[in-house]
Amino acid sequence: MTLILGLESSCDDSAAALVTGDRRILAQVVVGQNSAHAPFGGVVPEIAARAHVEVLPGLIAQVLEEAGVRPHELDAVAATAGPGLIGGVMVGLLAGKGLALAANKPLLAVNHLEGHALSPRLTDPTLAFPYLLLLASGGHCQLLEVRGVGEYRRLATTIDDAAGEAFDKAAKSLGLPYPGGPAIEALAKEGDPAAVPLPRPLVGSAEPHFSFAGLKSAVQRAVAAGAHAPADIAASFQQAVVDCLIDRTRRALERSDAPALVVAGGVAANGAIRAALQGLATDHGRAFSSPPAWLCTDNAAMIAWAGAERFAAGLIDRLDAPARARWPLDPTAEAARGAGVKA
Ligand code: KG4
Ligand code: ZN
Repeated sequence: MTLILGLESSCDDSAAALVTGDRRILAQVVVGQNSAHAPFGGVVPEIAARAHVEVLPGLIAQVLEEAGVRPHELDAVAATAGPGLIGGVMVGLLAGKGLALAANKPLLAVNHLEGHALSPRLTDPTLAFPYLLLLASGGHCQLLEVRGVGEYRRLATTIDDAAGEAFDKAAKSLGLPYPGGPAIEALAKEGDPAAVPLPRPLVGSAEPHFSFAGLKSAVQRAVAAGAHAPADIAASFQQAVVDCLIDRTRRALERSDAPALVVAGGVAANGAIRAALQGLATDHGRAFSSPPAWLCTDNAAMIAWAGAERFAAGLIDRLDAPARARWPLDPTAEAARGAGVKA
């Protein structure tokens, strides 16, 4: 059975994993850098890249040892080649190239977004192409029709901030630690989601695009006004994000006859968001699938799995594969009106 080593280093998580073509995760490890970036309230690219240099080789050795696998037993080495913070991407991609070269195995230069996009198929063998994917992470908020390996049609993207970025910035306003998503979700459980009036940007608009910048500013103002309990602000903010995601995804469902709705990316770890999307899928007669929370946030099992899917399709890369800061899954998609340029 195909055996793929996956490496991830595009943001602030260093990760390695060994995954087989028949969906077995033989070993996987993720090491975050939260404490290194916490004083800055966000990821500092240079600190991240240096940490990957220090951590990644040990993780590779660890997963190989845990699974009792030697490099020559691999079928290929998959490494994230973008999009992301370029310093970290270069570290992981070069580590993958070095290993591929030394073991004389093919390189799979994986798009991190494709890792998220295909991740539900690692744990859900019944999930077939095509499916409508809400990809919501710290850097991206997109609706994509996933038609096959390497075949993506983007229906919508954000015109300003990503959903995870909105969670992180709202958390910062509330004095909560980075990353903000888990902290807001926990605090929201103690609050009233109807307590604080907050905007739902773009809800009701014809194109299914997203916008979160206005919501982020409204949270800042609500915190500064001091009239509401932090838990009420957190709960109301999370409800506003849920309402935006549901309305925009409903619009995309009207434009796609894909039989399944899928959510992936770090924000998909949020229980309220998953539950709401599950309900939306049911209302529209679609199946619903989402990877377990640990597979939603950045990890290398999804990179190894995307590598396994690409390997099976014969899509191997050369050793001169570039590291890319930007790398859209659908290069033909037009920029959303008002969009700052994002991959
Ligand atoms: O996919 P990911 O790990 O990294 C990127 O590729 O960006 O996503 C990280 C993002 C962060 O913005 C984080 O706050 C958010 O996902 N996130 C969550 C939750 N867990 C992580 N957002 C909402 N609720 C959560 N439980
Ligand atoms: Zn990610």
